[in-house]
Amino acid sequence: MAKEKKKTLSAAEKKAKEQRKIAKQKERAKSDLCYVRDSGIHGSGVYASCDIAAGEKIIEYVGEKIDKEESERRAWAQYARAEKHGEAAVYIFTISKKWDIDGNKPWNTARLLNHSCEPNCETWQEGKRIFIYALTDLKKDEELTFDYGFDVSTYADHPCRCGTKSCVGYIVSREQWDELEELKTAEKDNG
Ligand SMILES: C[S@@+](CC[C@H](N)C(=O)[O-])C[C@H]1O[C@@H](n2cnc3c(N)ncnc32)[C@H](O)[C@@H]1O
Ligand SMILES: [Zn+2]
Repeated sequence: MAKEKKKTLSAAEKKAKEQRKIAKQKERAKSDLCYVRDSGIHGSGVYASCDIAAGEKIIEYVGEKIDKEESERRAWAQYARAEKHGEAAVYIFTISKKWDIDGNKPWNTARLLNHSCEPNCETWQEGKRIFIYALTDLKKDEELTFDYGFDVSTYADHPCRCGTKSCVGYIVSREQWDELEELKTAEKDNG
């Protein structure tokens, strides 16, 4: 069977398509369960607008679906910005071997959740979408946090200021805390 020819879109059609995509994302990013304000951990944070039970879906982490090549390019650009201006936030989520989500969009409120070594939320992937769920019962005005899951190899670049009793001092995936302790000890021993 002959392949159907793909329609070439005009500039106006492309723009309209992009606008429809953004409008959809904005709609999906809305949540009555949380709001944004300054955080004691870092910059802005996201807070519970009401008591929330463990297991409840709070908000979607929306963004642009990009392939690995584009993701790599953006990660390097972010790295270059960090080198030049100091801190730079990371907003890229892996959703499959082929695709990532770049959540660096102003309407993506969920991008502002900070990391904690005692997180009260978790991210959950449903198909190609990512959601933030409550991991514990949350009180109104409690800051929402999750484990960023950063790799231990870059620990020194990400000091943690979550201020919890369990804080290991760096933003590192809980699964790699043993390795982190070994690295910290080795560093101390090497003076
Ligand atoms: C995705 S942003 C989170 C929102 C951020 N607070 C803001 O205002 O843009 C991630 C950045 O926030 C900072 N951050 C998040 N959690 C942190 C923590 N526990 N300790 C120190 N900095 C943290 C780091 O600079 C990290 O790269
Ligand atoms: Zn911490």
